[in-house]
Amino acid sequence: MIDSRGPVGVFDSGLGGLSVLRAVRALLPHEDIVYVADSGNAPYGGRDDAFIIERSLAISEWLLGQHAKAMVVACNTATAQAVHLLRTLSPIPLVGVEPGLKPAAAISKTGVAGVLATASTLRSEKFRRLLDEHQTRCRYLCQPGLGLVEMIERGDTDSPALMALLEQYLAPMLAEGADTLVLGCTHYPFVDTAIRRITGDRLTIVDTSAAIAQQLARLLGRPLTQAESTPDAADRPQGRVRLCTTGDPEPLAYVARTLLGLEQSVEILSIPS
Ligand code: SIN
Repeated sequence: MIDSRGPVGVFDSGLGGLSVLRAVRALLPHEDIVYVADSGNAPYGGRDDAFIIERSLAISEWLLGQHAKAMVVACNTATAQAVHLLRTLSPIPLVGVEPGLKPAAAISKTGVAGVLATASTLRSEKFRRLLDEHQTRCRYLCQPGLGLVEMIERGDTDSPALMALLEQYLAPMLAEGADTLVLGCTHYPFVDTAIRRITGDRLTIVDTSAAIAQQLARLLGRPLTQAESTPDAADRPQGRVRLCTTGDPEPLAYVARTLLGLEQSVEILSIPS
């Protein structure tokens, strides 16, 4: 039975899903959230499909054990490889993330959009289908963001090495006329400032975090407007957030504190596959 007082479970390979957590907190500030970063096994992007599916199943099982009433797979790679199976097995509503190809086609004036995602996401059947669906309206330049997740997991969002890697990935997109960039990995919003330093206003960045939060609100039967603006909001307590990791707690604690203002300590978990 679903416990309507239970938390929302959010998981990612690491700290990238905090970009989704930020959007969920903005829209649903009264919800309790349990966030799991599988940092002990990150990044998922270079892993084989079976490993990603195994980890996604183990973490969702753990979240169900915490009485989660809904789950957000805040990882594009895990969504691409495992969301279909998770949906079949999950007794609770589930939201996955996917690269925003559709909004990019609507935004782009040149009809050319860059897509930055992990190698695993780009080679997945789910992504190929998404591409087939939208590529008549836009030309997508797909670029694996090799190395980026590792750097962001270390808390690096603007080192010369990171800037050089971004430059290497973005320059060919600009040269081919892209005016829109899809961030197809939940880690990448944490380097959006670095991206803008390189591209200026030549690329419009598409980040789907807010749309994910809205989809969650819809599944929970909540209004799609900012909850703070509803009349009873002031009387309700702010939801609690539990931050958990299977790896080093420091980077997660640092990003949660500096970018989301969450001061609590990070729990270290062992979630065997
Ligand atoms: C990764 O772990 O390599 C990236 C996670 C994502 O695709 O969002």
